[in-house]
Amino acid sequence: MTSKIILDTDPGIDDAMAILFAEAHPDIDLVGITTVFGNATIENGTRNALWLKQKYGMRADVAMGAAAPLVREPVGPTTVVHGPSGLGDVAAGEVTLAPDPRPAWQYLVETVQANPGEITLVTIGPLTNLALALAHAPEIVTQVKQVVVMGGAFGVNGHRGNVTPYAEANIHDDPEAADRVFTAPWPLVIIGLDVTQQSFFSGAYLDALRDEAGEPGRFLWDVSRFYLRFYSERIGLDGCHVHDPSAIAYVIDPTLFTLREGPVRVVTDGPAIGHTLQKFDDRRHPHDGWAGCPAQRVGVAVRDQALLALYRDTLVAWGKGSD
Ligand code: RIB
Ligand code: CA
Repeated sequence: MTSKIILDTDPGIDDAMAILFAEAHPDIDLVGITTVFGNATIENGTRNALWLKQKYGMRADVAMGAAAPLVREPVGPTTVVHGPSGLGDVAAGEVTLAPDPRPAWQYLVETVQANPGEITLVTIGPLTNLALALAHAPEIVTQVKQVVVMGGAFGVNGHRGNVTPYAEANIHDDPEAADRVFTAPWPLVIIGLDVTQQSFFSGAYLDALRDEAGEPGRFLWDVSRFYLRFYSERIGLDGCHVHDPSAIAYVIDPTLFTLREGPVRVVTDGPAIGHTLQKFDDRRHPHDGWAGCPAQRVGVAVRDQALLALYRDTLVAWGKGSD
């Protein structure tokens, strides 16, 4: 069955990997792309999204979103990981398309309301746009099909954080927004570092994509060079983790992941700002900030080889026709 999705993104190298994956898979109908600050400034990220839409002839709308977090001081674009413009060594060419005139939060609300029960919101950047959509139209919690979030780290499989010892980048960028989104009563799945750092696109895997997946494979190889240099220099890895494409993989095949249920909260200040915590037992406490919050589902295990095969097969099938 085809899933209609809106992809909320901060493009971003692994965001580009996820955007092409969503566009390529026949079970995904990529209705819209909403942009948010994060890996790049909102201007650069939106330009990257429009350029990808233009380059690959995508029918998805592109709507520009938030330039800064709700409450915290902005931490600034992650140029060290994603390069000065967000796409590593690749410079987006001239863009002739314009974004949708609506701000992302309004695009999200109106598109969900025009398709009740049908839209899956997939987020692969800070959660600011979703928090703004909730603030303007809280009723969307009953109108979306589900929300799938790439973000957070719960200490499962030893993964606790990538921008601080206890925070993942998307949540650290706007912890207040994340706490509002995680405590809203909508069906929500979190695909965090606990699972995304369990899967690797190795150098050899990306070389094979370059050779077998036509023009998109060569583009993914080009765009990943900067990212792989970061991973090699900072972490000593020949390859990169599979962050943003994992959220798309969940929509295509949820059986790739094992999930754990329980309410989730986010630390919104102090040294642990951006830390995500799930309460997953029934113990009672005299003080409990999780009580009364809806149970959400958090990814705790992934069939990584099957996920890698799904990504490769999808891109190869799509890219073949491009040569
Ligand atoms: O922590 C990984 C996440 O942060 C990914 O979404 C990546 O693109 C960055 O936004
Ligand atoms: Ca991202």
